[in-house]
Parts: sequence; C-alpha cells; structure tokens
Amino acid sequence: MSTAGEATAAATSDGATSDGADPDRDGRHQDAGDDLAVATRDLTKRFPGGQVAVDGVGLLVPRGAVYGFLGPNGSGKTTTIRMLLGLIHPTRGEVSLLGMAMPRESAGVLARVGSLVEGPAFHPQLSGRANLGRLDAADRTADPATARTRIDAALDQVGLLGAARKRYRAYSLGMKQRLAIAASLLQPRDLIVLDEPTNGLDPQGTREVRALIRGIADDGVTVLVSSHLLAEVEQICSHVGVMRTGSLVFQGTIGRLRARGAARVRVRTSAVPQAQTVLASLGVCDLEAGPQEVSGQLGEREPEHICRELVLAGVPVAGLEMVRPSLEDLFVELTGEGFDVER
Ligand SMILES: Nc1ncnc2c1ncn2[C@@H]1O[C@H](COP(=O)(O)OP(=O)(O)OP(=O)(O)O)[C@@H](O)[C@H]1O
Ligand SMILES: [Mg+2]
Repeated sequence: MSTAGEATAAATSDGATSDGADPDRDGRHQDAGDDLAVATRDLTKRFPGGQVAVDGVGLLVPRGAVYGFLGPNGSGKTTTIRMLLGLIHPTRGEVSLLGMAMPRESAGVLARVGSLVEGPAFHPQLSGRANLGRLDAADRTADPATARTRIDAALDQVGLLGAARKRYRAYSLGMKQRLAIAASLLQPRDLIVLDEPTNGLDPQGTREVRALIRGIADDGVTVLVSSHLLAEVEQICSHVGVMRTGSLVFQGTIGRLRARGAARVRVRTSAVPQAQTVLASLGVCDLEAGPQEVSGQLGEREPEHICRELVLAGVPVAGLEMVRPSLEDLFVELTGEGFDVER
C-alpha cells in the first residue's frame, strides 16, 4: 500500500515516535486532526478472579497503516480488541479511535469502524446475501432503499458475489470468513479491525484473505489485523505490535522489527579453533562453532576488518558472510517459544 510507508511513519513503544500516516487520500474526516487511527494509553484489563489479561498497553496505529497485532495464544490480543471497540470495559487506561475518545464518543465513531471479532452470528439456513441483508437491516444508520447495492458491493469486494445465493451452512470455512469480512464492509469505513481473520484457513484461503486486506488498505482504510503467526500477515503489514502475556513487547514499522535482528558474521574455515581465537580477540561475542565454521555477533565491526585480521593471523578463510535472523526468529525471540500457553 502507498500510505504509512516505513520511511515516513514510525510509531514505537520505546519513545521514538515520528510522524503518522499520510492524510486521508480522499479528504474524509481530515477534521479529526489526528494522525493516529488507534491510540491507547495504559490500557489494562483485569478479569474477575484477578487475572491481568492486558497490562498497560499503548497502541499507536498510524492512519493508513496495515497494523499486524501479533502474539501467541492467550497473549491478550482479543481482549485488547474488545476494549478498543467498547465491547468490554477497560479496568484502566484510555482508548481513542480515529481521534475520538472511546467509549464516550462511540456513537459518533463506531459507524466508521468495521470489525470482525468472534464473527457476527450468521443464520445457517440463509444465503450469504440474506445474512448480510439481516445485518444491514439491523443497522439503523443504513438506508433500506440502497441495501441491495450496498450488500452486493460488499459481497463483490470479498469475491462472494458468485456464491451469494448459497446457504451459509454450505459455505466453506474460507467463505464464512469472507462473509464475516463483507459484513464489516457494508458501510464505508475509515478503520477495519479484524481479529484473526485467517484463523483455520488453509494456505490458499490465507492468501485470499491477505489479498482482501491489501485491497481494503489500498482504498485508504486503516487496518488492524491480529494473528498469532507473523508469517501470515508480514507481507501486508506496514507496522506491527507484538504482545506477550498481556504486554506490548514491540511496536513499530516492520522495517524496525527487521533492523532489530543483530547481524552475525559467519566464517567458513578448516581452522575453527584459530578462527575462534582471532574473532574473540576482535571482540566478536556470542561465538558459535560448527565443524567447518564459526559465527558470532558482528556488533559495530566491519566485516572487511574481520576478514583481514583472520587472513593476517594465518586462518584460511573459505567464505565469510553476514547473516541476519529471519523475522520469524525475531518474533519467537520476542514472544518466547513453546507449546504451553503462558498462563
Ligand atoms: N472473559 C474472560 N474471563 C477471564 N479470563 C479471560 C476472559 N477472556 C480472556 N481471558 C483470559 O485473558 C487472557 C488473554 O486472552 P485473549 O483471548 O485476549 O488472548 P488472545 O491473544 O486473543 O489469544 P488467541 O490467540 O488464543 O485468540 C487469557 O489468559 C484468557 O484466558
Ligand atoms: Mg484471540
């Protein structure tokens, strides 16, 4: 998408906040005078029984961003999203959507926010189109005279127009997910919040939902999309926020997440012990040795310098390369690894 590029927008949890996104392309709601589509401060939820599911979260979602809200199962994503939308009350903290305070100004702002959280209750015996018809009719702000146009446009946007007459119960999981997204698109929106829209989908379905989200974003709509898998949303996100046991452990552009991956230098050599000695003497730390290679944290050192010192010390260098951890590695490092949910 063309807005909120990495070069122009950075919203970070560590204090380095730069500008937000570009102004709305079509001039909608510019009067809000706020470059953040979602902003929370100290957002906290303690459930009865004492569990703190969300703990002091400060989300900053620039307008025009596709914000990947990531974290493992139980890390507090859905609870946060429910608080954003006013579905549950925070124990503490503040929420602002499109520059308006929630829940105080919810009547004014929620019409501009589409959401998919736990999916709307669809009727299994009714067709996709009829189901959207029921939801549309329940929206008091929607003009009944234009319902059909609106519904078909939403179905078309998610690629369900051809299956509009099929009963909901005969829909595949992917089609059900698309219908849920269509429901969030019945009205023109400035912000769309999707809680795990790719949950349970096969790789093809996941790709389709990704393309759908990209299309929504290309229309200038800010998207907040949660997932427990970075790989599922990484390609479409301009920004990410990473949750771990109720806390936001990273927030910023995807470029900043990548930049966090400290570069390592990897030397291929037949003289591993000597190479280790030289690297250690140069201050390269966190050394790891394999049968034919040694690697370590490069830090501020120039790889050329390291190469020269190795050669000068008589170490045969068969290859020298720089390696950066993958985004997935970084994600695991941030969120912890393991099968058990943490609480
Ligand atoms: N209504 C509730 N009452 C008590 N605890 C709750 C309630 N809803 C959620 N929790 C707890 O809050 C924590 C966060 O749950 P939440 O659903 O927000 O996580 P999540 O990140 O959305 O997980 P998932 O990826 O599995 O959807 C969990 O430990 C969960 O058990
Ligand atoms: Mg959830």
